[in-house]
Amino acid sequence: MRIIAHRGASGEAPENTLTAMDLAIEQDACAIELDVHQLEGTLVVLHDRYLNKTTSGSGLLSDSSLDVLSTLDAGEGQRVPTLWQVLERIGGRCDLNIELKGMGTVEPLLALLQRAEAELGYRPEQFLISSFHHPMLAQLKRQRPALKIGALTACCPLNYAEFATALGAFSVHMDVDFADPAFIADAKARGLKIYVYTVDHAPDLLRLDALGVDGIFSNYPGRSRARLNAPRH
Ligand code: G3P
Ligand code: MG
Repeated sequence: MRIIAHRGASGEAPENTLTAMDLAIEQDACAIELDVHQLEGTLVVLHDRYLNKTTSGSGLLSDSSLDVLSTLDAGEGQRVPTLWQVLERIGGRCDLNIELKGMGTVEPLLALLQRAEAELGYRPEQFLISSFHHPMLAQLKRQRPALKIGALTACCPLNYAEFATALGAFSVHMDVDFADPAFIADAKARGLKIYVYTVDHAPDLLRLDALGVDGIFSNYPGRSRARLNAPRH
């Protein structure tokens, strides 16, 4: 089962910062999930639409500017990185799940991926792009059919994973609260990978492993891997 560092190793470093990315790599996470918004045409790595929760700033991100953003403290003296800064820092050493938050992210993302492949040596299959905004994923798929997309859901839909098949998704990303075995079986039968968020407790980890999910998002990737590898009684 894959352990994907959620917002980097965000349980032990400020989420979505370069430090959290470094720590995830140190902990041998095979992939890192991060959240991106668009500001002035640039993709920035931040979960919330509001600055208050994770930075020293306040108000809406969309009312801010890149200049202001670059001065804010995102925790432990870290800055809010741009996606390009993260891509440079990771330098292709692990896979990336880029979650699109908010609008206007598709075009800058496509340009950035192309640049990362050309200049930083990333392989196209290292990128998995997810979002709760499915029309945006459909747009990505139309513009770059080979791109792997992950259909996010916070619910257990009536027709289980049918929405992900309709999108031509590579994977379905589901909430641990609704990790229903019937949903998982349906997704597997459709040939979709199943990744579950956010899993930090051993009973969930072991149950999902037994159900055959393909991966989980963890705020503590090192600890989750150790728990998974520990002998079971
Ligand atoms: O991508 C998995 C998970 O991060 C989705 O929810 O709110 O943590 O971005 P959220
Ligand atoms: Mg996310």
